[in-house]
Parts: sequence; C-alpha cells; structure tokens
Amino acid sequence: MSKKILILPGDGIGQEIVAEAVKVLDYLRQSEGLALELENGLIGGSAYEQHGDPLPQQTLELAVKADAVLLGAVGGPEWEGLERPLRPEQGLLRIRAGLGLFANLRPAMLFPQLVQASTLKPEVVSGLDLMIVRELTGGIYFGEPRGIRVNDNGLKQGFNTLVYDETEIRRIARVAFEIALKRGRRVCSVDKANVLESTELWRQVVTEVARDFPQVQLSHMYVDNAAMQLIREPKQFDVLVTSNMFGDILSDAAAMLTGSIGMLPSASLDAGGKGMYEPIHGSAPDIAGQGIANPLATILSVAMMLRYSLELPQAAQRIESAVEQVLDEGLRTADIYSAGPGMQQVGTREMGEAVVRALAAQ
Ligand code: IPM
Ligand code: MG
Repeated sequence: MSKKILILPGDGIGQEIVAEAVKVLDYLRQSEGLALELENGLIGGSAYEQHGDPLPQQTLELAVKADAVLLGAVGGPEWEGLERPLRPEQGLLRIRAGLGLFANLRPAMLFPQLVQASTLKPEVVSGLDLMIVRELTGGIYFGEPRGIRVNDNGLKQGFNTLVYDETEIRRIARVAFEIALKRGRRVCSVDKANVLESTELWRQVVTEVARDFPQVQLSHMYVDNAAMQLIREPKQFDVLVTSNMFGDILSDAAAMLTGSIGMLPSASLDAGGKGMYEPIHGSAPDIAGQGIANPLATILSVAMMLRYSLELPQAAQRIESAVEQVLDEGLRTADIYSAGPGMQQVGTREMGEAVVRALAAQ
C-alpha cells in the first residue's frame, strides 16, 4: 500500500525549499517506484490568509491521516501584529501538539566539505556529529497559566509556566537513550536544576531512566554551561536531551557549528514513529522569493522521513550521498559559499536539481 505524505510548505522560503525537496521525492517515486502519495496543505501565515486560521481543521485532519508530514517554515513580518492565536507560529505549535510529536530530533553534523563555512576553527568542528533530542510538546511553550495581566500594583505583568510531569520527562529521556544506543552511547541531560524545581525533577527522572540503559553513559549539564561547551568543545557531545525551550536555543547554536542553519534537518516523532520533518531554520522573510535559500536542510529532512517514518533506509542513504556528491562538486548556496577553487555559487533551484541529478547518476 502506498504511503501518504502531507506537504506543508508554509511561508517565506518554505515554498521554495519544499519545492526542491518534492523534486527529490518525485524522482524517487517515478524512477525507483517508491509507493508514495503526496498531498498538499496550508499552514502558518498562508493558511491564515486563506482560512483565517494558521492551522485550518482540514490541514490537521490531513496530517492525522498521513504517514508523515514534510514542512517548510512558518512566519513573517506581515503577521507579527496579529493576535497571538492567529499568528503563524501557533499553527506550528498546534500541529506538533495535535499530532503528539513530543520528540524532536535535531542532528548537527558537519559535512567535511563545509569545514570552511563554519565560523569556528576547523579543528574544533571537523568530524562533529551530535544529536539534540528536544522535548517538543511540553514545558514553558505549553504550560498554563500564561498571559499578560495587571498585577496588584497596577503594573502589567507577563507570565508563563515551566511545567513537566514525570511521564513527559520519562518518555523523552527514553527516546534519547534509545538513540544513544545506536550512536556513541553517551547522553548529556541539560537542565537548570540549581535554580528551577521543574528541572530538578527532570534530572531525577532522567537519572531513573538511565538505570534501564546500563550501556549508556549519562551526564548532566546546566544549560548555561551547555551553551558554552557547545562553542568551546562541541565534539565532547553525543546525544543531548533537553526541555522544549533549552533545545530550541541550543539547536540554533549547534546549527552554526556546521556552517549554516541551512544544512540542518529535523524529525518530530510521536510515540509510534509517525513524524513531521522540517528544516530547523525559519521562513527567512529577508531572502524569501529570491531563489537563493539553501534547500539542503529540507532535502535532508526528506532523508530523515524515509528513515524514521517510512522504513526506507536505503533511499534515505541515497539522498544523503547525493547531497555529499553535490557538495563534492563544489556547488554552494550563498549561506555556505566561500570563494575557492572549484566553488560555484548556485540558487535554490539549481541546488535541488543537482541533488536529483546526483541521485540519477548513482
Ligand atoms: C523551531 C522554531 C519554533 C520553535 C518557532 C517558529 C515556534 O524556532 O522550530 O525551533 O520555537 O519551536
Ligand atoms: Mg528555533
């Protein structure tokens, strides 16, 4: 039976980069006979424009029925003034919650071809391969109560709640340990247990879960130190497990170690392995529509989709090799370009088409 993939390009450069990822999927369908059925839907600002809602009911229904979702990015300055529930980001948060996608995997891996593109010294980043496992449907992003109120002194007061129950911590910790088993067998749990009670519980529960994984070495690190260590000596990490907000912040930092946020894919998984796949970067309104965005993070997200949700690991591997091939050929979008012999700056479409050509040539 064919598998259904819901395509949600979203806003800004989302449209352009997803178009290239779809070319890769189409190529695999047509020439390799992969039984994949693609459907399209709206999310974010573009959904708000058509339906007055950043996550229309029909999009959520399509997503629930699909085997996997491929998402571009959401957001843009034109929607920043809207009431919060109507903003594009709410569409993203609601689809994550609506599908129960509590485990967000953000691998940060440096392609050897891009050592020069990192702002860090080559010896600090070359060979980098770490995985951030970010909790995605809880914590301060979703905690209640929240809002802006007037306090007893008549002052406006903004407030949010950082809350985790033990079940939420246990299940994300298990995901991190399972992944570590298949990698370097080390988990570093990030918290702020010296200040925040919710993360003191985080540390306790992660420590309990670790007992079921004696082969995996567990360490704990305060988030401020983790931010510093990621820049100082990132290769010390194998798997980092974090709460929702800490993972949001640390994954942007990790992305820059690899040269460009335009290279990093992600997978957001539910308890059964169904997933939504998206680049970790945003909609980049400043360069939207110019055809210069890097589609590789989205194309690599397709590879993650084939591996984690569609059980097609060979096809995933082929996409990753094709990406390496185009980098070997010297093709670079603006974000990863640095002048040098054999280097050629290309646009979004040329990069996508080069990946398809490399697939065809394998
Ligand atoms: C991310 C993004 C989102 C987040 C925004 C767009 C809501 O920054 O996926 O990292 O904070 O989770
Ligand atoms: Mg983010």
